[in-house]
Amino acid sequence: MDIKESYGDRINPVSINLETLQFLKEYIDNNEVASILEFGSGVSTEFWSEQLPQAHLISFENSRRYRKITASRISKQADNIHVRFGPLRLMKLFGRRYISYKIGSYLRKNAPKSFDLVLVDGPPGFLYSREATILQAIDHITEDTQIILDDAERDVEKSTIERWSMMFDMHELQYHKMGNKEIATFRISPKPKLAKMPESPNHKLGKTIRLLLTFHKQNVMHNLWLLKMRLLNKEPFPDQKMAEEEATE
Ligand SMILES: C[S@@+](CC[C@H](N)C(=O)[O-])C[C@H]1O[C@@H](n2cnc3c(N)ncnc32)[C@H](O)[C@@H]1O
Repeated sequence: MDIKESYGDRINPVSINLETLQFLKEYIDNNEVASILEFGSGVSTEFWSEQLPQAHLISFENSRRYRKITASRISKQADNIHVRFGPLRLMKLFGRRYISYKIGSYLRKNAPKSFDLVLVDGPPGFLYSREATILQAIDHITEDTQIILDDAERDVEKSTIERWSMMFDMHELQYHKMGNKEIATFRISPKPKLAKMPESPNHKLGKTIRLLLTFHKQNVMHNLWLLKMRLLNKEPFPDQKMAEEEATE
C-alpha cells in the first residue's frame, strides 16, 4: 500500500506528515497494536481507522468542529474508535498548573488497562501543554507502551521530553527526522520518581491563564470569521463540507 497515494491529498499544514504516516505504517506492520490513545485528532485518526480497523482507539480533540469533521471521516469498518471532545481547561497535575484536555473521568471509565501506543499531537504547540498528556494518561501506560511525540524538533517539546524523563525512567528515546519535522519515540516506566514535576516558567499560574485566554480569543476570532463566511454565503472549508455532507447522507 502506497501511503503517499492514499494520504498525499489529505495532508494539511497542521496534520501529521507523510513521512510520519510511513513510519507509523512500518511500526504497526511490525508490532502488535490493538489499542491506541491519541491527543489531537485529524488525518492521523483517519489513518488508524483505515489501517487498524479492529483496534480500540481513543482520540481526544479540543475543537468541537474538528472533532465532528474527523469523526465523519473515519472508516466505517472501524467500530471501536472514539473521537472525543476534550475541552481545554486549567488543571493541576503532579503539583504543577497545566492547560489540558478535560478527560479524566472518560479515561478512568473507558480506557483499557494499558495502551499499546500513545500518539501525542495536541494540544496546539503555542499552548506549551503537551507535557500534561502523559501525566494524565499515566495510569494506562506500561513499560511496553510505545509513546510517539510529534513536532519533536521544537524546543518546547524537547524540554517536555527532558521533563518527562526527570519524572519517569525513560527508555529507548530516539529522535527521527521526518521531512522538515521530527518525531520522538520512547517508552517510560510509569512509576513517578518525584512527588512533583520540576518547576518551569511555562507552568506558572499567570502564564497558563494568559495562554488559555489567548486560545479563547483565537476561538472567538475563528467563530466570527465562520459567521462572516456564512453571512457572505461562502464555504470556509470546501473539502470539509463534502465530508460533512457525506456523513449526513
Ligand atoms: C497538530 S494538529 C493534530 C493533527 C492530527 N493528529 C492530524 O494528524 O491531523 C492539532 C489540531 O489541529 C486541528 N485540526 C484538525 N484537523 C484540522 C484541519 N483539517 N485544519 C486545521 N486544523 C485542524 C485540531 O484541533 C487538532 O487538534
